Amino acid sequence: MKTWHRLFPLFVFSASTNALQVPFQQPLLQPSTRLIAPDIDAFVNNELDRWNSSGLSVAVVRQDTTASGKWDVEFGSYGVAQADGTLVTPDTLFAIASNSKLFTALSVGLLIKNESLAAERGQRLRWDTKIKDVLDEWKLMDPVVSDGVTIQDMLSHRTGLPRHDYSGIQRQGGVSEMISTMRYLRLSAELREQYQYNNLMYETLSQLPRTLLNQSFESYVAEHMFKPLGMHSSTYSVAEAEASGLLSHGYQYDMQDHLYGKNGTRVATVPYFQRPGEEGIWAGAAGVLTSAKDLSLWAAMLLNKGRHPFSNETIIPEDVVDHVATGVSVALGKAAYPELSPAVYGCAQDRYSYRGHELLEHGGSNPGFKTQVLRFPNDNLAIVVLSNDENGNHIMDSVKWRIADKAFGLEPIDWAKRYGDKFLDGMKKNREEVTPRPAAPKPPTTSWSEMEGTFTHGAYGPLRPCFVATSSSGLTDACTSIIQDRVVQRILSAEPSLAEVPTFIVPFKGFFSTHLRFLHFDANLFNVSYIWSNAEVREKEGFAVGAGGDVITGLDDRYVVEWVDAEDGGASGWAFSGDFWGKGGEVREREGPTPRERAEVWFARSVGQDARRWE
Ligand SMILES: *[C@@H]1O[C@H](CO)[C@@H](O)[C@H](O)[C@H]1NC(C)=O
Ligand SMILES: *[C@@H]1O[C@H](CO)[C@@H](O)[C@H](O)[C@H]1NC(C)=O
Ligand SMILES: *[C@@H]1O[C@H](CO)[C@@H](O)[C@H](O)[C@H]1NC(C)=O
Ligand SMILES: *[C@@H]1O[C@H](CO)[C@@H](O)[C@H](O)[C@H]1NC(C)=O
Ligand SMILES: *[C@@H]1O[C@H](CO)[C@@H](O)[C@H](O)[C@H]1NC(C)=O
Ligand SMILES: *[C@@H]1O[C@H](CO)[C@@H](O)[C@H](O)[C@H]1NC(C)=O
Repeated sequence: MKTWHRLFPLFVFSASTNALQVPFQQPLLQPSTRLIAPDIDAFVNNELDRWNSSGLSVAVVRQDTTASGKWDVEFGSYGVAQADGTLVTPDTLFAIASNSKLFTALSVGLLIKNESLAAERGQRLRWDTKIKDVLDEWKLMDPVVSDGVTIQDMLSHRTGLPRHDYSGIQRQGGVSEMISTMRYLRLSAELREQYQYNNLMYETLSQLPRTLLNQSFESYVAEHMFKPLGMHSSTYSVAEAEASGLLSHGYQYDMQDHLYGKNGTRVATVPYFQRPGEEGIWAGAAGVLTSAKDLSLWAAMLLNKGRHPFSNETIIPEDVVDHVATGVSVALGKAAYPELSPAVYGCAQDRYSYRGHELLEHGGSNPGFKTQVLRFPNDNLAIVVLSNDENGNHIMDSVKWRIADKAFGLEPIDWAKRYGDKFLDGMKKNREEVTPRPAAPKPPTTSWSEMEGTFTHGAYGPLRPCFVATSSSGLTDACTSIIQDRVVQRILSAEPSLAEVPTFIVPFKGFFSTHLRFLHFDANLFNVSYIWSNAEVREKEGFAVGAGGDVITGLDDRYVVEWVDAEDGGASGWAFSGDFWGKGGEVREREGPTPRERAEVWFARSVGQDARRWE
């Protein structure tokens, strides 16, 4: 066994230990079966070993309904939290990513239930309130959709807007400015036609405490959820989490490129991918940093219909907990395995069943972090699994079902094999589905240098492609310094067989990106990778550069961009497709007579005033 997978001593806490730091103490419950016992420890350690994974933090919460409602919490802590070998404990902080969405949905529920707010406004906020009536910044491209979208539509991912996650860039005006740029984003479905997962809508809803109460979203959640529940280590603040020393490192795979059979090298992403001050826009969709210990309180409160597990004080009104748990959209129309059911999505939770047991669940994914928080409301069981491995999804999923099988006294299913095979298959498929570049590709309809310049999009910002020339011809000075940058040189050297393929590098600073790479395919078509490097941040914050510390991800992303020439009344530009906008697999492709109209995201050449705006 490798040292970084050493088992951390098993924790079994209940309300009687001060570890949970709650004022109301109850006697220790001694159920006959420990769920997190040596069999589960061996299972988890074996999985971490098999996949060379970093760490995993588990919490299991149950209430004894036969006795006096005592709560029983077990923790399992496995593997490494940080690059120096620091081990995972129940206190280790993880980015729970989209498991933050339930905090946002419940914050909306609390505002809906707020009587004094309703009195002040002369009008109650409701689940079916139209968002245009609350947020002045609100506007979507299609006026019918824009006017019709309700709070419920946003929470249940059925507005018609695809993800557009890559429009996530830092904005001086924060969430308010982000909302005001959504009118430039193309829609991919009619209102309420399709389930389309959307982070921007949860970010938008995080603006409500600011608009209605002149209070920041982060302080609203801290005041009404973190504090009363005793979730003392939970925060939206990267600076606070980092200062605690407890924030785990998210492990990612440097220079991974599955299209060329390269798994990459597992590297701790240091520092955290978002820097202090950058996390505000992402908060409502995915900003909570917390521990298995704090989440055990959260899960117990949810199992307990919104009441504090120990004091019985109401944290969230029961009808709100029930509302957010009730399905609205069809998230998955058919089950993926015989033991599962189709899934409906209410607010920030999927609802489906596992071997006949109904459950509520959400996943989370931030760079280097994967999380699952689930509960079986009819079985008094909640399970929290937190991974700090970019590839941790299939490990988490098999661990959660292994624990559920044991809790239900069912013969365990070999999920580790099912999910493991699926993971490997996915990599293989990714490679096999590629159409090779033609042996004699047609040149584009214009010169490489004509494709450079400044292109703009109202929400995504500027796009400035730089052609990578083997000789110095046609390069401006600005572009030369970009191309010669250490990171870009590393990107360009990643795959030697691509050295002769005409390439553009585009500096593209977003939440999860620093560069785009356009590789010429044929005629006006290019293959796009959405690349992230932490080299610049590491250098700025005094971490060693190079030397195995940097991370470059996204080389094997597969999007498409097409160069479009100017024509009557239309500027030249770049038309992105290949699900760059993130509509999801079930939604029809965008149609239109020209590439400009078919584009999921269209960047037009900017002229005059507009060009200067972005300088
Ligand atoms: C309810 O609204 C009042 C303002 O009317 C505000 O002071 C209070 O913090 C709000 N409470 C919640 C839980 O939203
Ligand atoms: C909002 O709160 C700030 C202090 O946090 C205060 O300066 C400002 O006047 C308030 N705005 C409104 C409209 O009440
Ligand atoms: C990549 O990882 C997979 C799964 O662990 C393994 O089967 C394969 O051999 C690895 N490939 C390389 C080139 O290391
Ligand atoms: C496992 O990960 C570590 C840390 O990134 C790395 O040094 C090692 O080479 C990896 N082992 C395998 C078999 O991939
Ligand atoms: C908790 O409060 C609810 C609502 O007042 C009540 O029905 C229930 O009996 C209480 N539970 C305990 C254990 O006190
Ligand atoms: C590049 O784009 C073409 C055209 O869309 C596609 O057929 C091909 O599979 C893509 N290649 C990669 C590596 O994604």
